[in-house]
Amino acid sequence: MEATADYTAERKYDFDVVRWFTIMAVVYLVVGAGVGVYIASELAWPFLNFDNPYISFGRLRPLHTNAVIFAFGGCTLMGTAFYTVQRTCGVSLWSNKLAWFTFWGWNLIIVLAVITLPLGFTQSKEYAELEWPIDILIAVVWLAFTFNFIMTIANRKSSHIYVSNWFFLGMMVMIVYLHVVNSLSIPVGLMKSYSLFSGVQDAMIQWWWGHNAVGFYLTAGFLGIMYYFVPKQANRPIYSYRLSVIHFWALMFGYVWLGAHHLQYTALPDWTGSLGAAVSLAMIIPSWGGAVNGMMTLSGAWDKLRTDYVMRFLIIALAFYAMSTFEGPVMSLKTVNALSHYTDWTIGHVHSGALGWVAGISIGAIYHLMTRLWHTEMWSEKLVNVHFWTATIGTVIYVVAMWVSGIMQGLMWRAYDEYGTLAYTFVESVAAMHPYYAMRAVGGGIFLLGAIVMLFNVLMTVRKSVTAGSLREARGMPAIAAA
Ligand code: HEM
Ligand code: HEM
Repeated sequence: MEATADYTAERKYDFDVVRWFTIMAVVYLVVGAGVGVYIASELAWPFLNFDNPYISFGRLRPLHTNAVIFAFGGCTLMGTAFYTVQRTCGVSLWSNKLAWFTFWGWNLIIVLAVITLPLGFTQSKEYAELEWPIDILIAVVWLAFTFNFIMTIANRKSSHIYVSNWFFLGMMVMIVYLHVVNSLSIPVGLMKSYSLFSGVQDAMIQWWWGHNAVGFYLTAGFLGIMYYFVPKQANRPIYSYRLSVIHFWALMFGYVWLGAHHLQYTALPDWTGSLGAAVSLAMIIPSWGGAVNGMMTLSGAWDKLRTDYVMRFLIIALAFYAMSTFEGPVMSLKTVNALSHYTDWTIGHVHSGALGWVAGISIGAIYHLMTRLWHTEMWSEKLVNVHFWTATIGTVIYVVAMWVSGIMQGLMWRAYDEYGTLAYTFVESVAAMHPYYAMRAVGGGIFLLGAIVMLFNVLMTVRKSVTAGSLREARGMPAIAAA
């Protein structure tokens, strides 16, 4: 039954571009995590900087964040959005050509990032480092992606717009204006510009973008994935559709107010930090509502977790989503932030969200897509299981190491002796971090190993599909005669 339905889909929809986004997402996961492990090792064993500016921590760090967020995350989001919108609207893409333009444009941006960041060209704005010509290209490609998506929805056969599309749309629209406003700058050369904003306004605009990159890109976009792929993989409807709509509107109206929680105890007016913290706390409710909604989709079919490895990825991702959306609001409180800010606790929070939630839900969706797009089972189910355990164990080691080191760092920095002077020098706190930095590098290495296993399994699955002629058959093309 499934096979027949997919065969019809193959002729009806534009899946080639989705296939390429999917493969590239896995390639970039390996590259991004690889750079992550390298910079984690540089922090543990600084000789790895080799006194070479091009591979120094300072230059590779933004390369890592850009590779995982925009290359891996971007390709996953674009591939799954183009897949979901076609399947839920019952039509092919409004423009297949524009989708290919998006694919090549996005990959060109990634290549430009790989060249310019190690060379030291940067606007020094976190998650918005790329210089102005690349920023313009990002705006053009993102608009092409958004326009194609909206026009496909406009052409839809169904009267209803499925909730995943709302999440994708929310992300697209918000990212357009956040990116454009935060990138406003005055160019003084081909690869140098100065922000239009200065001082505290610059900081506020930067973190208005920064948090919303987390809220709308790393959260809303991936929730769009969750609301399509969890019910599909479970083969059951979402637990509560009404709750998913409430989840959507609460995130859209709530997230935009949070940016100031990144700037507690700074020159920003105090009330802005309090507002950021208050709305952050309120965000626990919709976030947990959404996480429970996803998990309860399995209600009555929990046994699937025993055999369905892809389902495991999706559900563990939801558990990390719940955890990081509890931790984040707690960290936004001024008293807690006084301890956590500037420490590795933030890095632990980031990676429980990034590895556990973002990577977890993406990996689950990609495995699901592989079998649908190449009309065959995975080359090795066992390797999917190996990947599940390496990803989970690697993430837990990473996050625990950062929690311990972060809280220790914060406590060491604020400890006083009986004379009122600092109990530890800064260097002592750095030395105390060493075992945890080594532990993080090991955890990251285990996660990376899983990603490499995934890439191998994905490529072998493509090969298997090509050899067996599954895709040709699905397209109604004659099979290649066996030699
Ligand atoms: C093998 C896996 C990974 C390793 C070993 C790793 C390692 C690192 C390291 C060492 C840093 C710099 C921390 C610091 O400045 O003290 C970092 C930052 C960061 N990473 Fe990863 N990473 C990995 C995967 C990922 C993934 C998959 C994502 C996103 C989907 C991600 C997102 C980020 C972000 C957003 C930051 C910046 C955090 C901040 O500024 O607070 N990482 N990572
Ligand atoms: C309701 C949900 C969330 C809230 C209220 C929240 C809150 C926070 C807070 C207070 C910080 C520390 C700010 C600082 O001291 O500088 C932070 C950092 C961060 N969070 Fe969250 N968080 C949430 C969910 C998430 C999720 C799901 C992710 C997914 C990846 C995430 C990614 C990040 C990143 C990347 C940073 C580091 C930003 C930087 O300094 O570079 N957060 N978050």
